[in-house]
Amino acid sequence: MPAAPDIQALYDLEPHLYDRLACDRDFSAEAVAIRRMSGRSSTPEEIQQERILELFAGPAWHSACWKHQFKAEVVAVDSSPGMRDLAVSRKRLDFNEYIVGRLPSVLASHNPKLTLGSFDIALILRYSSGYLSDMELFELISLTSRLIKIGGHIVLELHDPRMLASDLESLPIRKRTFAMQDGSSLSCKWPSGPIRWLRPSKLVEMPVIIEHTTRDGRVRQLRYVSREYVYRLDDIQDMIRQISNLHWINGKYLH
Ligand SMILES: C[S@@+](CC[C@H](N)C(=O)[O-])C[C@H]1O[C@@H](n2cnc3c(N)ncnc32)[C@H](O)[C@@H]1O
Repeated sequence: MPAAPDIQALYDLEPHLYDRLACDRDFSAEAVAIRRMSGRSSTPEEIQQERILELFAGPAWHSACWKHQFKAEVVAVDSSPGMRDLAVSRKRLDFNEYIVGRLPSVLASHNPKLTLGSFDIALILRYSSGYLSDMELFELISLTSRLIKIGGHIVLELHDPRMLASDLESLPIRKRTFAMQDGSSLSCKWPSGPIRWLRPSKLVEMPVIIEHTTRDGRVRQLRYVSREYVYRLDDIQDMIRQISNLHWINGKYLH
């Protein structure tokens, strides 16, 4: 059997499938929790003045929520043009609210939307920091720190430390099934088998299987490998110590 492609092929070529898999969250509740966590009790008028930067945005669920529900100004960034098309067509983001480019370098690209010191909150959610090596993540946090206002926040979502305590090896196969709007169904096993740690690095490889079953019962199976660096709170804290204009608040749970 040929080697499974990297998970980026899912994001680039099948963004609508990821969109369906990723909507199993309450984005509005997450936004409220992030605001509370960053000590913001702004009035609706103040929120409308805020700028939110969503990095690794994918379908831009979070940007869409901050834009449509809270009326904040949003900028989403992702390397996948397909994700931008989806965010524009399905999440009502404007084309120029979504920057396609590779992180971290795109943040240094002098895009007029990326004005220094202009964002209130930068979001790096759904473990997406894991797509970058240590050096790239340090560069990302450092560049992001220049884009946020004094008193602004960078919010990272990391893997649950209890899961890390067992080195991920006990992570059960997680199977989820979703109905699609056209009557087809989607099932996802992530991971679909044992996870491989590439020691001594922080890199893990997780097999992923997605099955798309059409209304007439035809099954299309997609296999991927998700390669992710697993960062702990301490790793992020160490990086932040080296960036002079940032300080660490604390690891807190969103819910
Ligand atoms: C797990 S998805 C996360 C999407 C979204 N944050 C969410 O909460 O559902 C990861 C996204 O990161 C993007 N991505 C991965 N590596 C990237 C890089 N180096 N630069 C920009 N985007 C990247 C992929 O295209 C994909 O859309």
